[in-house]
Order: sequence, then C-alpha cells, then structure tokens
Amino acid sequence: MPEKLTLIIDDSPVSVPEGLTLAAAFFHMQVGGHTRCSVRGEARAPLCGMGICQECRVSVNGVRRLACQTLCRDRMAVRRS
Ligand code: FES
Repeated sequence: MPEKLTLIIDDSPVSVPEGLTLAAAFFHMQVGGHTRCSVRGEARAPLCGMGICQECRVSVNGVRRLACQTLCRDRMAVRRS
C-alpha cells in the first residue's frame, strides 16, 4: 500500500499516493487535470507527458517546473496559474 503525501495545491492541502508525478497527481485528485490557463483564460493540461509540450508548467515552491517531470514530495507547495 503506497504511503500518502500531502501537497499544497493553490493553498489547499491535498492527499495523494507517493510515487506520482505532479501531472498524475492532478488527474488523481479528480479536480480537473488542468495545470494552467492560457493568456486567453483557456485551461491547459499535460499533453505529451515527456517534457516536450510545456503545457504542464506549474510553480513548485516558487520555481517553475514541468508537472510531468516532477515527482511529488511531501508538503510541496504547487501553484497552477
Ligand atoms: S505534459 Fe508535455 S511537457 Fe509536461
């Protein structure tokens, strides 16, 4: 049984199993898989899952990261924009 981690997503604590990337965690949370909005306000979500499309950009502890390339760590502060 995987252990649970707590992520802080947009200031709200969320529990996810360990071993997931942030992109997988967004889908696991079932709050919509979007990671950011375009300049016109359209929801964007992970597309390629391998670091090419850049559609999964998020801020992790204030640093820009690709959600599909970042493993979840306990108490990570993630901001979608
Ligand atoms: S999903 Fe394409 S770079 Fe992350």
